[in-house]
Amino acid sequence: MRLDKFLCEMNLGTRSQVKDYVRQGHVTVNGLPEKAAERKIDINHDLVCFQGRLLSYRQYVYYMLNKPIGVVSATRDNHTETVVDLLGTGHRADIFPVGRLDKDTEGFLLLTNDGELAHRLLAPGRHVDKVYQVKVAHPLSSQDVTCLEQGVDIGEETYTLPARVEVVDRDQILLTIQEGRFHQVKRMLQAVDNQVMALKRVSFGGLVLDPGLEPGAYRELTPGEVELLQKAGSKKG
Ligand code: URA
Repeated sequence: MRLDKFLCEMNLGTRSQVKDYVRQGHVTVNGLPEKAAERKIDINHDLVCFQGRLLSYRQYVYYMLNKPIGVVSATRDNHTETVVDLLGTGHRADIFPVGRLDKDTEGFLLLTNDGELAHRLLAPGRHVDKVYQVKVAHPLSSQDVTCLEQGVDIGEETYTLPARVEVVDRDQILLTIQEGRFHQVKRMLQAVDNQVMALKRVSFGGLVLDPGLEPGAYRELTPGEVELLQKAGSKKG
């Protein structure tokens, strides 16, 4: 791959910006300054650094982000900061969020460039678990819990699939769902005459949000975690 193409894919700037960086001596290949942007590199063997930072190229990358409130689940937005903006520069340009969390929802969001895995994790038939910590306006009755667990009418053709509810506190529940309908948790709580006061996704596809990640922080998934997600995405029913 050409060096300038590689630098663009790592999201360091436009083709002409990265050419300037190379010309100005910001880039080394295998420890030596490289001033030829058209130079070919072997992405599997050559070590490319930008301003001393190693740029690692893998076909697929996977990040666990603790999405903060106020940021939108999109790749680009003209007005509001996006979850991909939170990665900063030096990351691949083809990363996107797997599914969406509302602007006022925080918690676990998977970011990747692996379209196939994303598709499988989001497919309705795969029933991938998503666990939400929900702060509710009123305590839930046992009848509310039963309704949510059996499925509720949120104004669509079909009721929601059975869910799991764990009452943690008077105003706090853990809700596990296997679908991802628009505003699903908020609409489920509305269906039992309640209201979501705060919403955080704490687990996705069997992976638990890393407690070390402050809102806005992210880390790469370990190979074992990627494998777990691959398994979650290949489960049927
Ligand atoms: N359900 C919602 O209502 N909002 C989210 O962000 C996620 C699930």
